[in-house]
Amino acid sequence: MEIICLLWKLFIPLRKLNNDCMDPNFNIIQALCRSALSSAKEMTEHQVERLIENYKKQGMKKEAKSLEGILKRAHKEQPIKPLNFVISSLDGDILTKSTTIPVDKETASPILEIIFQDELEHEEPLFNDSIQIAVDSVINEWRNFDKLVQLNASPSKSCLIYGDPGTGKTMLAKWIAKSVGLPIVLAKLDGIISSFLGTSSRNIANLFRFANRYKCILLLDEFDALAKLRDDPQEIGEVKRIVNTLLQNLDARSEKGFTIGITNHEKLLDPAVWRRFDVQIVIPHPNPVVREKLLTDFIFPLEYSLQELKFINWCMEDATGADLRKLCDWLKRTYILKGTEKRNTLDLMKQFATINAGRISKRIIGIFNGDIGNLYNELSNDEYLHLKQKDIASLLGMSPSSLSKLISKNNNNGKKSDTISS
Ligand SMILES: Nc1ncnc2c1ncn2[C@@H]1O[C@H](COP(=O)(O)OP(=O)(O)O)[C@@H](O)[C@H]1O
Ligand SMILES: [Mg+2]
Repeated sequence: MEIICLLWKLFIPLRKLNNDCMDPNFNIIQALCRSALSSAKEMTEHQVERLIENYKKQGMKKEAKSLEGILKRAHKEQPIKPLNFVISSLDGDILTKSTTIPVDKETASPILEIIFQDELEHEEPLFNDSIQIAVDSVINEWRNFDKLVQLNASPSKSCLIYGDPGTGKTMLAKWIAKSVGLPIVLAKLDGIISSFLGTSSRNIANLFRFANRYKCILLLDEFDALAKLRDDPQEIGEVKRIVNTLLQNLDARSEKGFTIGITNHEKLLDPAVWRRFDVQIVIPHPNPVVREKLLTDFIFPLEYSLQELKFINWCMEDATGADLRKLCDWLKRTYILKGTEKRNTLDLMKQFATINAGRISKRIIGIFNGDIGNLYNELSNDEYLHLKQKDIASLLGMSPSSLSKLISKNNNNGKKSDTISS
């Protein structure tokens, strides 16, 4: 993997800038505005560095140099405060790398994992606008926790994030922790759930006792695993005990520190658990605009035209961020292994669909396997795509004249005979 990354950096030409398209740096500019507005200096600097790097890659030396100057001056003017600021009104000691982690008494497996600030990625997840606003407001509240407490404004302390797998929930929890400057205490449910009667409840109590002792964000990722146990009629007594312990501890935790719960299966979650969370955010699949930004980020440094990206985006309707990441990784692998072969984008997407049936919608697969005239109609009538006939011809790997001959032949015959070969 490292070798492939190195190859990208050394040999692969940088993607072209399409002057017609929206500013490809818009993601960064948005992130910059957000971090600058919340006065997170280290985050702002990181985003400026990304922008400089992109400008250099795009040959925009003047812009890069000017931003470098701004960054240098900012360094001289103000000493950098560590992002890991301390929210003083939160209870607890500071976690260090030598803090002992509690284990399950029967199996000795750790019941939690600590993720420190330097282990959290700088990568910000992207969401539809309304979600982005909700996320920013949680981050803002938690960052300004001290001020809000002073004003008696009872800031929120717990947040439940739910939505389909691959929509970026875990990434979001880590981003919140990064932005707030606190380490994560991540519950390890495989260590917590024990086959010994009563042990799971004891582990849950120990997990909360540990989290309450330190300044941290307690992260209960995929914690419907606890609720799922309710399906087993033989486990009823034990599950009741577990859920009760969880409820008691969540209540007590609300006085102590921040908690994030994540679930893919919100319906499996006990309604009483659900109510314990101050804020509840549902993460939907990304809309076409966000999908385009994610594709632009993930596909780098491969070169794709705006039309090709739009077409890929169209093929990935309903996809999650994780699906888009998978697709882009696959496109990079295909480029490395078969880079010299000239293949059109439709063929590539059809090949991806064949080995990733669950990642492409049935509607798109139906269109892929249907009549070329129908595919042409779908593409040319799509408001988001705005494709001209010559663009479509190029996506299908044809000359514009052969495409128009094919379409007029189809129209004349009124039959669906030109099935796309797979
Ligand atoms: N909204 C998003 N923004 C950016 N990347 C995303 C997003 N959603 C998913 N991804 C990509 O998919 C990967 C898996 O996402 P993850 O946070 O584990 O999803 P979930 O926890 O919802 O199952 C991430 O590491 C990231 O590469
Ligand atoms: Mg997850």
